[in-house]
Amino acid sequence: MTIHLPMAPVDLEFQVTRNDSPMPDAEREAILADPPFGSVFTDHMVDICWSEKGGWHRPRVQPYGPIPMDPAAAVLHYGQEIFEGLKAYRHPDGSIWSFRPDQNALRLQRSAKRMALPELPVDYFLQSLKELIAVDGAWVPSDPEMSLYLRPYMYAKEAFLGVRAAKKVAYYLIAAPAGPYFSRGVKPVSIWLSTDYSRAGKGGTGKAKTGGNYAASLVAQQEAAEHGCAQVLFLDSVEGKYIEELGGMNIVFVHKDGTLVTPASDTILEGITRDSILQLAEDDGHKVERRAVTLQEWRDGVESGDIVEAFACGTAAVVTPIGQLKAKDFTIGSEDQPPGELTVSLRQRLTDIQQGRADDPYGWMMRLDA
Ligand code: PLP
Ligand code: COI
Repeated sequence: MTIHLPMAPVDLEFQVTRNDSPMPDAEREAILADPPFGSVFTDHMVDICWSEKGGWHRPRVQPYGPIPMDPAAAVLHYGQEIFEGLKAYRHPDGSIWSFRPDQNALRLQRSAKRMALPELPVDYFLQSLKELIAVDGAWVPSDPEMSLYLRPYMYAKEAFLGVRAAKKVAYYLIAAPAGPYFSRGVKPVSIWLSTDYSRAGKGGTGKAKTGGNYAASLVAQQEAAEHGCAQVLFLDSVEGKYIEELGGMNIVFVHKDGTLVTPASDTILEGITRDSILQLAEDDGHKVERRAVTLQEWRDGVESGDIVEAFACGTAAVVTPIGQLKAKDFTIGSEDQPPGELTVSLRQRLTDIQQGRADDPYGWMMRLDA
């Protein structure tokens, strides 16, 4: 599959400053053997400045470290910020790849539009990944259960307390080695139904990957943890009837006849993992429905035996079976049921492509170290 890039800009010349005290090899290898999710960072970071007058300029690779920030920077006051999440995988031959990074670049542009931030050209985004891997490639683990999580983000840095789109913005890319977001393997998780809180509303920012959506989810996520659940499930904010998504991942249901159903709404994030999984399933002959799904449909479907599996999917979660949904006054499923058959096989199909164990007929992988 050819990737069509909108108007390719000229390559940026990154000014590279090497970290003169990188983490010693032995220490790094010890972390890579069993990395936590998102709390240890590589030796370098990338940044590119934007200003209304100068456009994108001063691309740099520099040692990882604190960012100078004016206390009046608009992001600290009005939350004008967006981010992405994708992974770098080491293939069995040692080469380093990422999965559909053009889709993350395009989603960052869509988020930028919604949050009145400048759109970073797709080429600059892809180049930033390659620049970071050029200096921090050793941080990509070889264990197929592990990867290097890449976190591109952009924020309003202009020092200005008026409420309007900032005229000075920064794009950054940092990276953190990552093990499984939940537990190792495909152990089903319990999720908590939030009925007191919504994540997003009609005309709001639910579709954008912006910090505020995650901030809005935290109190509900705390409630989930208090009930022994790993994630929170949000319903629509208007009727409290339709299933939307989890705090940090999409949700998919599997019906007895092999049909996959996933909520479609303007208020949820368009997951790249979900899109890929559904494509794999469709090409295997499964019917796929992207439509409104009510909570009642899930309850009835499990009771009648029509819905046989449910899973969460996202970059961090990959594909994770949902064992049960706990709510204030009911529970669906049970924590210790085995993972669904299709859930497991789709997870395997996807990770085989991502980790270079299977062919990539869709042209989804992009090499980062060449
Ligand atoms: N929904 C939310 C709220 C997310 O944070 C994520 C993760 O990025 C997803 C869905 C899944 O998106 P993707 O598969 O592109 O990682
Ligand atoms: C991701 O999957 O990349 C996310 O941003 C979600 C978050 C739970 C880490």
